[in-house]
Amino acid sequence: MIWLGIESSCDETACAVLQSDPVRILSNPLYSQIQEHQNYGGVVPEIAARAHLQKITIIAQKAVEEAKIKLSDIQAIAYTTGPGLMGPLLVGASFAKGLAKDLGVKAYGINHLEGHIAAAWLQNTQLEAPFLTLTVSGGHTELVVENENFNYTLLGRTRDDAAGEAFDKCGKLLGLPYPAGAIISKLASTGNRKFHHFPRALKNEDHGEFSFSGLKTSVLRYVEKHGPDYIEKNLNDICASLEEAIVDILVSKSIWALKKTKLKTLVVGGGVSANTHLRQKLAHYTSRHGINLYIPEAGLSTDNGAMIAAAAIRRAQKHALLPKTEVKPWMPLAP
Ligand code: KG4
Ligand code: ZN
Repeated sequence: MIWLGIESSCDETACAVLQSDPVRILSNPLYSQIQEHQNYGGVVPEIAARAHLQKITIIAQKAVEEAKIKLSDIQAIAYTTGPGLMGPLLVGASFAKGLAKDLGVKAYGINHLEGHIAAAWLQNTQLEAPFLTLTVSGGHTELVVENENFNYTLLGRTRDDAAGEAFDKCGKLLGLPYPAGAIISKLASTGNRKFHHFPRALKNEDHGEFSFSGLKTSVLRYVEKHGPDYIEKNLNDICASLEEAIVDILVSKSIWALKKTKLKTLVVGGGVSANTHLRQKLAHYTSRHGINLYIPEAGLSTDNGAMIAAAAIRRAQKHALLPKTEVKPWMPLAP
């Protein structure tokens, strides 16, 4: 079966063609709007919606061409229903439903976070629930157990900023462009992780919740205290110390959740799962404790269309595709 996946929840207009049985990505192009938002230091919803509208047809055509199929070969469409920005989601949903009607196929709504988990599932499509998931993106940071039949148990999530948001906002304070996660990671690779000890909120508490807003304040105070010349001179060391703090919290809370649930599989997804230091630290712990670790392969951690089609294929395999085109979020959204 040939699927078209469409992702438009934030600042990437992404489409992908996947085949099922066996699952294979045939194409996965995207248009990144980063440059359009960079002057504002973050995503502007209205600009994002307009850019999706301008690009979605072009990217869908590109996905079809790169997959070397005809548009009429598409047998089902999967698109993101949320969580995400209202305007951008509406563009993706309207395009998906319109194309589905034209082709005489069905369009299925997919939860964005389930998409991030499906990106890791592509590494082992035999993977069976229950397993622990850590979703770390620009908008979410949560530990969730995936039970059978796509039932989810929330263990904890962030009380304020998400991990990716912490990277981005701290990066902005350090004078780095949006999104700062990958840039901080690159600078950190040659820095001293012990240069400065940034706070690790809630790290040792016996629950699965996170908090990153204090870290942001602490970076702000640090920048105010030391001034721009000092920051610039020691940027690699500061980035390394900051990355160490964020990764330390994420790894510590994942270990807490693994111990609490006694689960033997950890699936990680979301943009921050591209972080090399996080991947290495999680791999180190899981390999020593007999835990299977699945993280998306390079390029599939951040938002893309393949993860949305993959989530639909995963549900289809279990006969769990939702009949209506609207999907309930897998749990109440963060306030
Ligand atoms: O999943 P994603 O593409 O979009 C959302 O659903 O939010 O995640 C984007 C986030 C951004 O905050 C970005 O800074 C972060 O992922 N990110 C990284 C890395 N690559 C992307 N954070 C740390 N290290 C990276 N290598
Ligand atoms: Zn995402």
